[in-house]
Amino acid sequence: MSTHTFILNGERVSVDVDDDVRLLWVLRDVLGVTGPKYGCGINVCKACTSHFNGKAFNPCSVKVEDVGPDDEITTIEGLPATAGADLHPMQEAWLEYDVAQCGYCQPGQIMAAVAKVRQARAAGHEIGDSDLDEIRNICRCGTYNRIREAIKAGAANM
Ligand code: FES
Ligand code: FES
Repeated sequence: MSTHTFILNGERVSVDVDDDVRLLWVLRDVLGVTGPKYGCGINVCKACTSHFNGKAFNPCSVKVEDVGPDDEITTIEGLPATAGADLHPMQEAWLEYDVAQCGYCQPGQIMAAVAKVRQARAAGHEIGDSDLDEIRNICRCGTYNRIREAIKAGAANM
């Protein structure tokens, strides 16, 4: 057991856990941050998608020892603050397009969408269908068409 410190949703946090505990369990079970969902635990379903220094990652596949004291972890709970609003523009678009069905995959879908828009812009272009094809978040309810429309709308307001 050792102490691990990192920045979570803008605040520095410290946890006493074994080095090899994966971050998803630290977030959910130790820190009570349950936006990142547990689906597979093996980096396949993407239900836990969050941001690691602004880029999409899956905390079920990262050991807490691999997160440094200055690394910034952002979950869906911290996303609105990154836009300085009550809701991030991507969340607003999700509501406008009534995307969610059961909702389980949706925090991960939104976090993946925001990261993909940023990635496309860093590469010098706006998000397009080929970028959307690269998002691998599984939705058991099959809301994929609404997700794609909402991402385009949300991107326009980011
Ligand atoms: S729970 Fe993390 S990818 Fe499935
Ligand atoms: S809305 Fe049900 S799994 Fe995606």
